[in-house]
Amino acid sequence: MRRVAKCLSTMKRFGYMVLTVLMLICMETNKVKAQVEPLFPPDNEVVFILFWGCAVQALHEIAAELGKKDWNFNENPCNNKSSWFTPPPPPNIPPAINNSTVTCNCSFPSGECHIDGIYLTGQDLDGVLPRSLVKLPHIKTILLYLNYLKGTIPHEWAALKLEILVISMNRLSGPIPGYLGQITTLKYLSLENNLFSGTIPPELGKLVNLENLILNANFLTGEFPLALAKLSNLKELRISSNNFTGKIPNIFQSWKQLEKLEIQASGFEGPIPSSLSVLHNLTELRISDLPGEGSKFPNLQNMKNMYRLMLRSCNISGPIPDYIWEFSQMQILDLSFNKLEGNILDSGNPKTQYMYLTSNSLTGRIPEWLNARDSR
Ligand SMILES: *[C@@H]1O[C@H](CO)[C@@H](O)[C@H](O)[C@H]1NC(C)=O
Ligand SMILES: *[C@@H]1O[C@H](CO)[C@@H](O)[C@H](O)[C@H]1NC(C)=O
Ligand SMILES: *[C@@H]1O[C@H](CO)[C@@H](O)[C@H](O)[C@H]1NC(C)=O
Ligand SMILES: *[C@@H]1O[C@H](CO)[C@@H](O)[C@H](O)[C@H]1NC(C)=O
Ligand SMILES: *[C@@H]1O[C@H](CO)[C@@H](O)[C@H](O)[C@H]1NC(C)=O
Ligand SMILES: *[C@@H]1O[C@H](CO)[C@@H](O)[C@H](O)[C@H]1NC(C)=O
Ligand SMILES: *[C@@H]1O[C@H](CO)[C@@H](O)[C@H](O)[C@H]1NC(C)=O
Repeated sequence: MRRVAKCLSTMKRFGYMVLTVLMLICMETNKVKAQVEPLFPPDNEVVFILFWGCAVQALHEIAAELGKKDWNFNENPCNNKSSWFTPPPPPNIPPAINNSTVTCNCSFPSGECHIDGIYLTGQDLDGVLPRSLVKLPHIKTILLYLNYLKGTIPHEWAALKLEILVISMNRLSGPIPGYLGQITTLKYLSLENNLFSGTIPPELGKLVNLENLILNANFLTGEFPLALAKLSNLKELRISSNNFTGKIPNIFQSWKQLEKLEIQASGFEGPIPSSLSVLHNLTELRISDLPGEGSKFPNLQNMKNMYRLMLRSCNISGPIPDYIWEFSQMQILDLSFNKLEGNILDSGNPKTQYMYLTSNSLTGRIPEWLNARDSR
């Protein structure tokens, strides 16, 4: 705070003429976090110019690192308008993939506004993830998917209090850094569809608030770190299309909140772990292309809300349990390319829209409830 006071007295002495000096003050004061946050609306114009100038300076640096060229720095980024905001789509139209929005939280006790979100999706950005983000310490949400960003996640970000970090569909590479585990506020982390390689760092086990972890479609290798058993709030885990080794670890009992689990063509080997049976809240389960040891059909009896079930090419033998046909929410069922035997129950859920049972050893007749439907 002493430095704020120093800044302010500097500002008061020189008034509006110091705009050029401002950049220097910002650069110096950026070292202290409280001084670089934007402050809108202004308590007085001098304070406004100081903080506005510092925020603009931070955003200038962020833009340069990202390769963002069309922000208009003469406009207030918190006004929900102009170059800082892609307005919501009309009713019944889904959110746009291309979005360029900065959001602010104007509910701070003293009436200030702080930038709390940056959404730049489908913007053809070809820079890097900006180190300068640390100059916006109230930032909580970063959505930068569908760009051409290169490099890795900056070490500086370890100090941020991010809750949502989505940097999927870029060209980010190198190992997933262990210091990501320091952002313990994270609830949603998606690194999907990048060029990340190496093993999953066990430090991610420190992200105890994490609810969604999405690592699909990278070049990840090695075994699954058992430290991730500590992520007891996990609701969604997707690790498909990687090059992991070893067996799927039998640690599902730690993830009782899990609703969505996807392990397709991950490199992991079977069998399907027995602890899967404790995941009563699963609504979507997709496992495919498991080499190695076979399994019996896993126990899914308690997953009454199952909506989408795929166990494709998992070397599963034996009968399909009857309860599968009675899941009332089931929309898509794919059990193809296994060694399943026996017949299909005589009664079933006619709501199921897609059913794939090809390449098994099923016998018996095709029941009425299936026959009565469109063949799709
Ligand atoms: C901008 O939009 C957000 C969310 O809709 C709202 O909370 C905020 O008050 C708006 N800010 C201004 C300056 O209109
Ligand atoms: C762009 O993102 C902002 C912030 O999430 C959102 O309020 C807005 O509705 C989005 N616009 C479109 C067209 O999806
Ligand atoms: C805005 O900031 C205030 C003060 O930190 C906080 O209580 C509130 O939850 C924040 N609002 C949002 C939408 O993040
Ligand atoms: C959205 O972005 C993509 C890629 O960045 C671009 O090819 C496309 O033309 C954009 N679409 C719109 C509607 O702006
Ligand atoms: C995956 O790893 C195996 C060895 O562990 C290697 O032979 C194979 O080429 C790798 N595949 C890819 C796509 O990197
Ligand atoms: C499952 O979901 C329900 C309702 O959403 C929730 O109360 C419960 O804690 C969740 N976990 C388990 C293990 O049932
Ligand atoms: C399937 O599992 C059986 C029994 O564990 C094993 O002998 C066989 O090699 C497996 N098949 C494949 C294709 O991995």
